[in-house]
Amino acid sequence: MEPFKIKSVEAIPFTTREEREAALEEAGYNVFGLPARLITIDLLTDSGTSAMSDQQWAALMTGDESYAGSRDYFTFEKTIQRITGYRHVIPTHQGRMAENLLFTVLVNDGDRVPNNIHFDTTRANVEHNGGVAVNCVIDEAYDPAADVEFKGNMDLAKLDAVYADVGRERIPLVMLTITNNSGGGQPVSLENARQVSAWCREHHIPFIYDACRFAENAYFNKVRSGLEHSVAEISRRFFELADGCTMSAKKDGLVNIGGFLALNHDDLTTKLTNMLILIEGFPTYGGLAGRDLAAIARGLDEVLDERYLEHRIGQVQAFGEALRSAGIPIVVPVGGHAVYLDARRFLSHIPQEEFPAQALTCALYAEGGIRGVEIGGLMFAADGNWPELELVRLAVPRRVYTKSHLDYVVDVCRRLHAERDRLRGLRLTYEAPVLRHFTARLEPIAA
Ligand code: F0G
Repeated sequence: MEPFKIKSVEAIPFTTREEREAALEEAGYNVFGLPARLITIDLLTDSGTSAMSDQQWAALMTGDESYAGSRDYFTFEKTIQRITGYRHVIPTHQGRMAENLLFTVLVNDGDRVPNNIHFDTTRANVEHNGGVAVNCVIDEAYDPAADVEFKGNMDLAKLDAVYADVGRERIPLVMLTITNNSGGGQPVSLENARQVSAWCREHHIPFIYDACRFAENAYFNKVRSGLEHSVAEISRRFFELADGCTMSAKKDGLVNIGGFLALNHDDLTTKLTNMLILIEGFPTYGGLAGRDLAAIARGLDEVLDERYLEHRIGQVQAFGEALRSAGIPIVVPVGGHAVYLDARRFLSHIPQEEFPAQALTCALYAEGGIRGVEIGGLMFAADGNWPELELVRLAVPRRVYTKSHLDYVVDVCRRLHAERDRLRGLRLTYEAPVLRHFTARLEPIAA
């Protein structure tokens, strides 16, 4: 059961099919363009959508809004130092600003940045600085049916290949995303992180986590590897292996906005801090209000509560199991923050050039007012290269929806699956030069 009771509630909108179809047309068949007031169950993202605890709300009320030296900065800094073991803590307004700062300082034209799989903002920030984002995840990650326990793991042979290709000078850092969002929210094992760490030390290359979902990743390690240690201790072991991390606190910080960089390197911290002051804010607030720093500090401790994690991961697993037993093709094993529908198998009659995952995303909205997000050709195809996976991510916000909400989603998916032959593909009518999926417009292809 939920390890919390509910103190405040928010009504959810209900709409008619006509309203939903009109809204989809207006939004150019892109669910990013839908107004939230027309969405019944919003599974677009687990980012910034968490319900905060009473203690976090209380912290907002006592936030110290001093421009410099806010009391809440010191609590924030101490909490992150205790959890990660890293010396320096740089607040940012969200994760991509941490990436922007890091890559602006470290990445030069033609550099390669390996990761298990880069999240879209990570890739875009690497490329914006002239770098090449290279995915080095194990091959099984690309097979939605491969039931592998740590499907987010890095393939060391792929790291070797990047090294053989360009050498140390052209690899300014190696990243590891825990959990691996773009590959299905799949965990990385502690053993794999150890290997990546050893590889980086051997080649004198900085090793940085994209740590958005570090607590969920540590929980998977505890359960799947049968580790005796607490999740807090397992997290700490992960962090000890690397030189630092970028973090979007909008995920495992259990807040609606915020992020940070944490690291050990003194010179790098000085460079990052100088850039921070130029584009984000003074080092003791970094684009956030003092009250936000307080809510993050509290959230980072709450996320490591094992009762919370047992419910959180259990809820997402049960959601996936219910879909799977209804015969709906999903990525297995189920990841930490989301269930991913496999649109290639769900809509096998729609070719990839007609965006099957986007067609399924739109159908979920038209049928049930549910918003998921496409992770496939619309998000990743570039220069004629199409991604391996066509997925629809149903991300579960933290502490927000109950079992009956997710049961409703399963029912809608079941209805759509039964009538899948009637669904049609889409064609693009507008695309922006970068991160096109946010603003793209599409239209249905007539039968
Ligand atoms: N890295 C990963 C692995 C992410 O999942 C995200 C955000 C970011 C970096 C960027 O953080 O949004 O705070 O700037 N993921 C959200 C999602 C948007 O829906 O998966 P941000």
